[in-house]
Amino acid sequence: MTSDTGPARIEPDVRAARRAFLAAALRRPATMGAVAPSSPRLGAVLASVVPRSGSPVVVELGPGTGAVSAVIATKLPADAQHLAVELDPDMVTFLRRTRPELEVVPGNAADLGALLAQRGVTSVDAVICGLPWALFDDATQTALLGEISRAIGATGAFTTFAYLHGMTLGAARRFRRTLRETFDEVLVTATVWRNLPPAFVYVCRRPHAVPRADR
Ligand SMILES: C[S@@+](CC[C@H](N)C(=O)[O-])C[C@H]1O[C@@H](n2cnc3c(N)ncnc32)[C@H](O)[C@@H]1O
Repeated sequence: MTSDTGPARIEPDVRAARRAFLAAALRRPATMGAVAPSSPRLGAVLASVVPRSGSPVVVELGPGTGAVSAVIATKLPADAQHLAVELDPDMVTFLRRTRPELEVVPGNAADLGALLAQRGVTSVDAVICGLPWALFDDATQTALLGEISRAIGATGAFTTFAYLHGMTLGAARRFRRTLRETFDEVLVTATVWRNLPPAFVYVCRRPHAVPRADR
């Protein structure tokens, strides 16, 4: 079904998802950070770190209308756990209606450690992230990367994307520097041109120091 160059048909109702995404983006531009869901191709690159065997735990941050969730689902083995942490209540409702197989976690990715602890999750194999990093200030980015680092520990992987045109901005270059300060390995993939707008993916592993949670 899926390869790293692009999955086959994945959206149950692409048009409904695009409409829901755009409506949410117009209502809450400061949390959506995009006007269209990620393409299947970008989803495939983001999901490249999803383990295909065993009983992995995969956490998605900011699933939106589930474009990337759909790609992840095509790769997961039967015994996997797939949690999706989403802040926007309308997106939570949309996901619960359209992707009943997904464990939707309403909440803020900044509380990831607590949300996982509430569900008894102690180890995460991959964090796949669609959060709008460009909208977050430095302190918020650092706090989120701390939560993600603690979740993946020394053995997990973390992927997230950035839009190509954004790299002209200082904030995007600063975020790349922060990623390099946070993780031992930061790979930057080729540009995914079949995405609106074109984007690339950061693949990160082995946080340098996993800071202790305050709580
Ligand atoms: C750019 S959209 C990405 C949606 C989807 N992953 C995709 O690629 O099509 C960002 C998503 O992150 C969600 N979001 C923003 N801030 C969040 C936070 N602090 N915690 C959880 N979700 C958040 C938004 O509501 C939105 O659904």
